[in-house]
Amino acid sequence: MFKPKVFVARQIPEVGLELIRAACDADVWLERLPPSPEILRERVRDCDGLVSLLTDRVDAALLAAAPRLRVVSNFAVGVNNVDLVAASERSIPVGNTPGVLTEATADIAVTLLLAAARRLGESSTDAKEGRWLTWEPRGWLGADLVGRTVGIVGMGRIGHAVAKRLHFGWGMRVIYTARSPKPEIDAELGASAVSFDTLLTQSDFVSVHVDLNPTTKGMFGAAEFAKMKRSAVFVNTARGPHVDQVALAEALRSGAIFAAGLDVTEPEPLPADHELYKLPNCVIAPHIASATHDTRDAMATLCAANLLAGVRGERLPNCVNPSVYD
Ligand code: GLV
Repeated sequence: MFKPKVFVARQIPEVGLELIRAACDADVWLERLPPSPEILRERVRDCDGLVSLLTDRVDAALLAAAPRLRVVSNFAVGVNNVDLVAASERSIPVGNTPGVLTEATADIAVTLLLAAARRLGESSTDAKEGRWLTWEPRGWLGADLVGRTVGIVGMGRIGHAVAKRLHFGWGMRVIYTARSPKPEIDAELGASAVSFDTLLTQSDFVSVHVDLNPTTKGMFGAAEFAKMKRSAVFVNTARGPHVDQVALAEALRSGAIFAAGLDVTEPEPLPADHELYKLPNCVIAPHIASATHDTRDAMATLCAANLLAGVRGERLPNCVNPSVYD
């Protein structure tokens, strides 16, 4: 029986691989590190489908090297690693995995917010390294959450899930920026859409949930950190390039803001000698927001469904460039 040929650029959870192997002739990249661009190009040359990760650049050159390619299924909700214009020009649908990682990602945003606000990283390191002298009335003072204001930058699925946790859990006032008004969320959370400037100046906590595109790249620089409260906590679980990291490091060092919690950086991995690691008020996680057993299984299942639909010439369950079907 003819089986479409696909390249899977990493070992995704077994539940997804099983679905793919049952229907396709699958070449799965078994290394821990991603294939180089040259190897990726070589391996997709005669493929009908590709499963890519956010660490794999799917650009015009790669697509041109794969004349049979009928689908790119990205194992992520973000698709900034894929050249969507080039894919659309070649009528290749691109799939992603929205929805299934919303709750896990919101959990990490709140985890980072709490860890940064309550100085968990630096105090825990101190304890482990033998500097815990006694219980100090003035030691390790952090920020309260109850009744404070959170600014959600991008009130999409994940922004909404974070806002719900902070509003219903800690009674926070929610302000946000969004491409379009969100009357249901305003009613549900007593939230208000505001300008980006108002969000920066009024928020005690700022959490980033926009996708990465030319208009959002570098949206947090020296001017934005200067507008924030000196007590503000900045959280980024979206993409590293949203932030000018030199400006962030300076804002954290100078006390222009209180602390930051990052799940994403630029580059990834962040080199071990990077300035941000040296700042005690910066908590950094290695891009783990969707890393729960159930979430990664759900991503694998959806990613496989997108791939299989694509190689069969059917509409992808989640397609980010639906104009290919027009
Ligand atoms: C992870 O960052 C994703 O986009 O799924």
